[in-house]
Amino acid sequence: MAENTHERLIRYLQDAHATELGIMNALEGMFDDALDPEVSTVFNNHIALTRTQAERLEARLKELGESPSGGKGMMNSLLGKVSDMVNAAHDEYDKSTQNLIKAYSTEHLERGMYESMAAYADAIGDTTTAQLARELQAEEEATAELIFPLIQTRARAALAGAEGTGGAYTA
Ligand SMILES: [Fe+2]
Repeated sequence: MAENTHERLIRYLQDAHATELGIMNALEGMFDDALDPEVSTVFNNHIALTRTQAERLEARLKELGESPSGGKGMMNSLLGKVSDMVNAAHDEYDKSTQNLIKAYSTEHLERGMYESMAAYADAIGDTTTAQLARELQAEEEATAELIFPLIQTRARAALAGAEGTGGAYTA
């Protein structure tokens, strides 16, 4: 049976809620793996922010007379695939860089997810949900900006794990 416009909105909110919880788990793992205090701080702050994002989505669901689905959510399945790739990291240096790449891509996945939620909510006249989606989207964008320069830092740190040079590079 096809869902109506409201049911579709609820599903989007539930999916986003499940996604935020999944991201919180993933960030906790990345926080434990972080080798760099600057990286730990960014992950730790984003864990706290992600928790409030899940709460705000849950609050909106409640306002609409619904609750979180408790399901895994479509976006989480996608994130799981990225996570498997990271689990295959060559060593701790690569792992720390790949965690940042994963976190950076996660923020952009969320950016896209909230763009679609905002556009759909606007289209059905639910400006409150649209506003919430834009607010969360801006938070993901700000986090992505903090993560991006750390990729360089950690990529360079991998030099410490290499033995000797072994190549001559000409411009
Ligand atoms: Fe988020």
